[in-house]
Amino acid sequence: MRSQSLFLIGCLTLTATAKNVKSPTPPMGWNTYNAYNCNPSEDRVKLNAQGLIDLGLNKLGYNIVTPDCGWNARSRDSSHRLQWNTTLFPSGGKALGEYLHGLGLKFGLYSGAGYLQCGSTDIPGSLGYEDIDAESFNSWGGDTLKYDNCYATSNTTMVDSDSAEAKSPTRFQKMATSLEGVDRSFQYFLCQWGIGENVGDWASKIGNTWRMSNDIYNAWRSIWRITNQVVPYWRDTRPGAFPDMDMLLVGLNVLSAEEERFHFGMWAINKSPLMLGGILDNHLSATSLAIMSNKEVIAIDQDSLGRQAQLVRRYTVEEWDIWLGELSGSRKVLGLANWRNESQSVSFDLPSLGISSAIARDVWAAKDVGSVAGTQNVKLAAHELKLWVLSNITTASAPASTYYSAASAKLAGGASLTQCSTDDCLPTGEKIGNIGSGASVTFQSVTAKNTANKTLLGVDFINYDYAFTTAWAWGSNTRNMTIAINGGSPKRWAFPLSGGDWYETGRLFVEVDGFKAGSSNRVVFGNAGTGWAPDLVGFEILE
Ligand SMILES: *[C@@H]1O[C@H](CO)[C@@H](O)[C@H](O)[C@H]1NC(C)=O
Ligand SMILES: *[C@@H]1O[C@H](CO)[C@@H](O)[C@H](O)[C@H]1NC(C)=O
Ligand SMILES: *[C@@H]1O[C@H](CO)[C@@H](O)[C@H](O)[C@H]1NC(C)=O
Ligand SMILES: *[C@@H]1O[C@H](CO)[C@@H](O)[C@H](O)[C@H]1NC(C)=O
Ligand SMILES: *[C@@H]1O[C@H](CO)[C@@H](O)[C@H](O)[C@H]1NC(C)=O
Ligand SMILES: *[C@@H]1O[C@H](CO)[C@@H](O)[C@H](O)[C@H]1NC(C)=O
Repeated sequence: MRSQSLFLIGCLTLTATAKNVKSPTPPMGWNTYNAYNCNPSEDRVKLNAQGLIDLGLNKLGYNIVTPDCGWNARSRDSSHRLQWNTTLFPSGGKALGEYLHGLGLKFGLYSGAGYLQCGSTDIPGSLGYEDIDAESFNSWGGDTLKYDNCYATSNTTMVDSDSAEAKSPTRFQKMATSLEGVDRSFQYFLCQWGIGENVGDWASKIGNTWRMSNDIYNAWRSIWRITNQVVPYWRDTRPGAFPDMDMLLVGLNVLSAEEERFHFGMWAINKSPLMLGGILDNHLSATSLAIMSNKEVIAIDQDSLGRQAQLVRRYTVEEWDIWLGELSGSRKVLGLANWRNESQSVSFDLPSLGISSAIARDVWAAKDVGSVAGTQNVKLAAHELKLWVLSNITTASAPASTYYSAASAKLAGGASLTQCSTDDCLPTGEKIGNIGSGASVTFQSVTAKNTANKTLLGVDFINYDYAFTTAWAWGSNTRNMTIAINGGSPKRWAFPLSGGDWYETGRLFVEVDGFKAGSSNRVVFGNAGTGWAPDLVGFEILE
């Protein structure tokens, strides 16, 4: 489980190792994969490296250039060293490194922790050759290493996400040690895919970044999937340790302009690396260039505090979220995410988010909103992520709360109570699982102060049903659960992932209608459909 002491060990590593392999803010750059798949070449790398310079993107921080899968030849040399494919890279690795350094850019290397490289059937990976390969990366002048996770158990199965080998930290730790042994400093980018348990705990200690999901793909729905998976990683995110939501689709002409802004903004508030993947020549639209060049959004990503924003409200039926993150200078970033593909007007109370008043700046509109306090009514375009940077914040007092533990609920259907180990299923140490079709969890005698609708609940839940094999279809990293108050109709919420395993609690704040003043309220959690609901630890009424 996570603990404060693990965090301290992470900090010590940051200062105690001789080499600084951790960047204080999320890495930024360009990578061949999204545009060229596993078909990089020297010409392609140079075209885009030059593009970074010509478009001024290097000056905004995009300075790491990485040929992804497909760069190396089918065999190692007589000293067992990886070789560049000289058909694709006639000048070889060292010359490419010199070329990139000559442009003031960093040279990103790529390999994998398994027998073979991703996207190939016969190109060797680094397993068993970690020291030799780290020394090669060093000799070519590498600055970063992206380390993938294919062919973990065989030479024939590329993606084996269930094996102990693929889920284990061991091979990634081995390469971390090998990189420590070479002369140059490397930033280490883990591409383990977020499989197995407690990935943020171990990956944030050895990696500058860690991929926490299966690949992004060229469709809007992958934004929803990856966003729901990044939610719990705020616990591990800090300067030098960033959750990698995967490379950007901005500039690939697969999202609308509004969706590109949403995607870029969501990656920025979550402190993901910003790795471009579009071709940086006349393929790139002026709109996409403006999005990836937005200095205020980049500044949110690159904020010195290095804190990931948190999902602080979800309105599932209404299809929008509120996100809130801390920024340096006692500022905050507020994100209003419209998942609906239509415009809608939303309203929210700043005091219930802990903010009495503030000065707001609408980042994408590049306009000052002015002083804000109380209830805000905002119109969101289809698939818009509105970002406000709040400064001069005065805080609102926290509401009073009453907690209802899972143990006090009446269970029906297959729902069952589990006692958890010490420090698990916090804060109650127990959870209700198996909330399948027809199951329900009923809390009687719940006390509410007033009859106003929109009562705020903090629902403590556990969901570690991560979408890996389902990621290419509709896997969403969510589970549905309904809440019904006093016999009203059950309303559905999509619960994201909660933590690093089936015992780490997350909290989703939702607003419900129908409480009555007094102590005879009835709250029923249930299952919306055919799948499983998340496990339930308890809930809190905040009013
Ligand atoms: C280099 O890449 C080309 C194009 O993918 C491929 O045809 C060739 O076999 C590769 N060469 C080696 C030595 O792996
Ligand atoms: C994959 O092939 C390599 C090279 O032939 C071999 O050393 C290794 O044992 C093979 N891995 C498995 C799991 O069979
Ligand atoms: C969103 O709506 C637009 C316009 O109606 C449509 O072209 C687009 O396909 C929709 N996008 C998604 C992801 O459904
Ligand atoms: C910030 O708030 C203080 C009072 O808390 C006020 O005196 C000051 O004018 C505000 N700054 C701006 C720029 O509005
Ligand atoms: C949640 O419910 C919605 C609406 O019924 C459905 O479309 C979606 O597939 C459900 N999600 C899961 C993970 O079951
Ligand atoms: C509270 O919400 C319920 C259900 O949405 C609705 O029927 C009722 O009119 C609302 N009451 C008030 C006072 O807004």
